[in-house]
Amino acid sequence: MTNIPTVTLNNGVKMPIEGFGVYQISNRECKQVVLKALETGYRLLDTAQAYQNERAVGEAMIESDVKREDIFLTTKVDFTNSGYEQTKASLYESLEKLQVDYIDLVIMHQAYGDYYGGYRALEEFYREGKIRAIGVSNFFPDRLIDLSTFADTVPMVNQVESHVFYQQPEARKIMKQYGVQMESWGPLAEGKNNFFHHPVLLSIGEK
Ligand SMILES: NC(=O)c1ccc[n+]([C@@H]2O[C@H](COP(=O)([O-])OP(=O)(O)OC[C@H]3O[C@@H](n4cnc5c(N)ncnc54)[C@H](OP(=O)(O)O)[C@@H]3O)[C@@H](O)[C@H]2O)c1
Repeated sequence: MTNIPTVTLNNGVKMPIEGFGVYQISNRECKQVVLKALETGYRLLDTAQAYQNERAVGEAMIESDVKREDIFLTTKVDFTNSGYEQTKASLYESLEKLQVDYIDLVIMHQAYGDYYGGYRALEEFYREGKIRAIGVSNFFPDRLIDLSTFADTVPMVNQVESHVFYQQPEARKIMKQYGVQMESWGPLAEGKNNFFHHPVLLSIGEK
């Protein structure tokens, strides 16, 4: 897997269209797994404060031969850290754990708590160059339209569950209308619905 194609976000930043997520990978295993992913050719890494493995992701990035500027690093602010001050403090903590001086993409993990305040902290870090792109996750169209309309910065990404069995065409249309890049989580349908052996999908794959 080399030269993964990119999409251009609404602020001009390029994001690989395929990435490696580390949800449910323990801190103990995570470093080796991420090193292997980078060696395989993945360049987008997706972690979160809630996954409790940011430090291991950072260690793998340091140990890897892949240059920092060639990696697109994403983390997510946990809803327990919503609110301006708490989000800000959590961002400093993420930078420290990830052992980087900038993060490529930071998103509010859920539309819970004072995510408006949290988003203002993201905007501040973005203006200061500590984050290259900001966004949200699991935001339904009503929440996304509200934030896109009233915040200073239209989110660059909305990471939502989406796969062949749950394509979300309406939500996708609205994201497109507002210039927000849809990013799928659970793109392999978490292996459910016979995803890897589904006869229709297999026949499409063969073609
Ligand atoms: N923003 C959010 O709220 C949110 C939520 C969920 C995930 N995410 C992000 O999205 C990433 C991907 O999501 P995901 O891990 O939940 O779902 P996924 O990528 O759709 O599915 C992963 C699961 O699919 C199965 N699988 C993968 N490759 C397989 C293969 N070759 N053969 C058989 N089974 C295979 C495995 O199941 P088994 O473990 O059962 O073998 C694996 O745990 C996460 O790591 C995380 O970064 C974000």
